Amino acid sequence: MSIIELKDLSKIYGFGDATTVALEEVSLSIQENEFVAFMGPSASGKSTLMNIIGLLDRPTYGNYVLNKRIVDRIRSTRRAKIRRDTIGFVFQSFNLLPRLTVLENVALPLAYKGVSLKRRNKIAENMLERVGMADKKYFYSNQLSSGQTQCVSIARALVNSPKIIIADEPTGNLDSVSSRLVMELFTEINRTGSTILLVTHNPEITKYASRVIYMHDGSIVLDEESKVGEVSTHAKKMVRKSTKKTFEDDLKGVSTLMDAIPQKNNNTKKYSPKKKSKKTTRKKKNYVKRKK
Ligand SMILES: Nc1ncnc2c1ncn2[C@@H]1O[C@H](COP(=O)(O)OP(=O)(O)OP(=O)(O)O)[C@@H](O)[C@H]1O
Ligand SMILES: [Mg+2]
Repeated sequence: MSIIELKDLSKIYGFGDATTVALEEVSLSIQENEFVAFMGPSASGKSTLMNIIGLLDRPTYGNYVLNKRIVDRIRSTRRAKIRRDTIGFVFQSFNLLPRLTVLENVALPLAYKGVSLKRRNKIAENMLERVGMADKKYFYSNQLSSGQTQCVSIARALVNSPKIIIADEPTGNLDSVSSRLVMELFTEINRTGSTILLVTHNPEITKYASRVIYMHDGSIVLDEESKVGEVSTHAKKMVRKSTKKTFEDDLKGVSTLMDAIPQKNNNTKKYSPKKKSKKTTRKKKNYVKRKK
């Protein structure tokens, strides 16, 4: 069953000569309990897409059906309620409140919902238990490592039992050991039924996902099934070819990605769980040139 259904979704920022087309007619269908990784160069529209899916922002055009409800044109108060009950967010920058303890931070979304103090502390403690952070409940965020802080953020995202977790570069500020811990946590959450949408720049992270979507210039350029436990086919090519050391190398990494995936507007590959995706040889030759 489809939990997220986007049809021809566009997002345009600004007006007049200063417009940015952040998303261009994106259509996408995500089934319940999928674990989807989103990759793509900087400014390709990943966060914009997550913000719209997460009801933090509205599309300029297009339709969005979330959990069988049309949500692209509904009132802000209604959107906020649906967001609170359906979606949990995890960001790269953790976003914990420094003056609150770990327990208070995790319990905070329940306070907004009007849950009693005793009950919300109990639920928050359960969530901290689940992410292995129960013994840190009276700590403040400046007393935790970044990996621990992210685990607390995940506990907070889970506290309303959301059907969908949106994680925008959740391992971006973590070392490899903490990243693994956090990704194993997402895997475990996915096992218990949550749908996970996760943005990453790290090809290695795709091995936790069952589907990988590549974006470029506001469009989905590739949508492929990915075997859990293995780095996705196209992400693997990026790891092999790119060495991100300097700005120039970074650009090379981007063009390597474009080499590895089909060109936008030509053969955008749609997700098909039964078929294996094939490599196409089209190249995006002028991407680096345009970026300069
Ligand atoms: N609030 C905004 N106002 C104007 N333009 C915006 C705004 N948010 C994003 N954009 C533009 O939309 C485009 C897509 O941005 P977005 O943040 O979605 O990219 P991204 O793929 O998440 O990039 P990164 O990997 O660097 O996080 C960019 O050109 C960006 O400058
Ligand atoms: Mg982003």
